[in-house]
Amino acid sequence: MLHWIVCPTREAQAKACAAVLAAQVLQKPDSVLGLATGSTPLAIYREMIALQNEGVVNFSNVRTFNLDEYIGLSHDHPQSYRSFMETNLFVELGLRSEQTHVPDGMAEDLSAECAAYEQAIEQAGGIDLQLLGIGHDGHIAFNEPAEAFTRTVFVATLTAATISANQRFFARPEDVPRTALSMGVGSIMRANRILLSAFGRDKAEIVRDAFTGPVTPQISASILQFHPDCTIVLDEEAASAL
Ligand code: GLP
Repeated sequence: MLHWIVCPTREAQAKACAAVLAAQVLQKPDSVLGLATGSTPLAIYREMIALQNEGVVNFSNVRTFNLDEYIGLSHDHPQSYRSFMETNLFVELGLRSEQTHVPDGMAEDLSAECAAYEQAIEQAGGIDLQLLGIGHDGHIAFNEPAEAFTRTVFVATLTAATISANQRFFARPEDVPRTALSMGVGSIMRANRILLSAFGRDKAEIVRDAFTGPVTPQISASILQFHPDCTIVLDEEAASAL
């Protein structure tokens, strides 16, 4: 079941997403939040920090699981998703490392790391609310166009388009990792609630195709049409092709 929220501006869009996350944590202070990286969540994280600083909500008791991490980057590498989360959210919210989880892209045994990460989510009681962005090809986490939906955390191979989109964060194109550990579509679908955020004109066509077109592993976000509680928050530009 999809719920739609279309906001007049990008700023209002981020505030609406932060409000959904805040409402979840007001109801359950030790919520398990699934978190995302990329440019989409940045303004949402700034709004969450502001809400906590203003005393509206206290996020410091949440537990978090990130969607993905690049293989081959250590957690203290400046472009790792762990570093991104520490800098843009965790430190500001006062979250300790025991509360936060990001797959270990330096694990020697990657399939053991995948299984351990999936199990850790289950042991935490599952994800209460999962925040998602969407890639230009419709990917969620690193579930690139594929022949079948992935069920659990897996080793993902990035497409050329995703590598080039993510290049902006790295000094040289050859520095962008080609593989990542990623939650599977099944891992994401098991979350109780989903919050998908998209803004900007460049996401308009994929938002339309993913959520009003056929459900297909070629556009992994399309599976969210079958989730019982998925809220899609857009600005007017991202909603402009609907
Ligand atoms: C990456 C991440 C996704 C994210 C996507 C879109 O590929 N693995 O989780 O949704 O980028 O990123 P952006 O928000 O920068 O458009």
